[in-house]
Amino acid sequence: MIIAIDGPAGSGKSTLARELAHAFGFEKLDTGALYRALAYTCLREGIDLHDPAAIEARAQALTLIFDGTGEETRITADGQDVSEAIRTPEVDRAVSCVAILPGVRQALLPAQRRFAEGRNVVAEGRDIGTVVFPQAELKVYLDADPHIRAVRRLAQREAKQHEQIDQARHDRDLVQTQQALEARDAADAQNMQPAEDAIRIDSSSKSIDELVHMIGELISGRR
Ligand code: C5P
Repeated sequence: MIIAIDGPAGSGKSTLARELAHAFGFEKLDTGALYRALAYTCLREGIDLHDPAAIEARAQALTLIFDGTGEETRITADGQDVSEAIRTPEVDRAVSCVAILPGVRQALLPAQRRFAEGRNVVAEGRDIGTVVFPQAELKVYLDADPHIRAVRRLAQREAKQHEQIDQARHDRDLVQTQQALEARDAADAQNMQPAEDAIRIDSSSKSIDELVHMIGELISGRR
């Protein structure tokens, strides 16, 4: 069985996918991690983000191995563990430049489909229900107000920082985070359309428990 969860950054996809995978014993496929691993590789190797041919060639040659069984997705790119390195603001800014290229999307497709062979999977991304797994048994398109998405994203980041953050810095970071999210939404728009048969949910005022309960009922009904 495949559950597709699509939507923009900060909509709650990753948390929802993780909780559902845990509750139902499914594996989690975080497709954003693949695009991030490619963007990180390009940055590290000095590949020009405005050179589509070079990026597409790198995507074709890159070996990505991922493990969706734990809390956080683990991913290696050409044998190097990049699980943490792909979650930086620098990669956030670069990732849409590589993800927009048709040759990149084509190159990363087989790995996503191979991962799901013979497995129960909760896959999250932007085009899961439309392109990667159009046959998914359940499709969810999750969205939320941009301000709320920015608050969530910043809270996640601050939780990982081991320093005191004063109110002025928090407020500044929040404005920047929302701007960065909205810029990424605009750059990703072309590949981020809800599937016609997706259940659309605005998660702005929903807790993760509510979402898990709601989608969990749907999964149980379709198994
Ligand atoms: O989900 P996450 O924020 O980690 O995704 C990072 C980026 O990867 C997105 O902003 C988008 O550019 C790209 N992406 C994509 N298609 C997917 C998943 C992610 O284009 N299925």
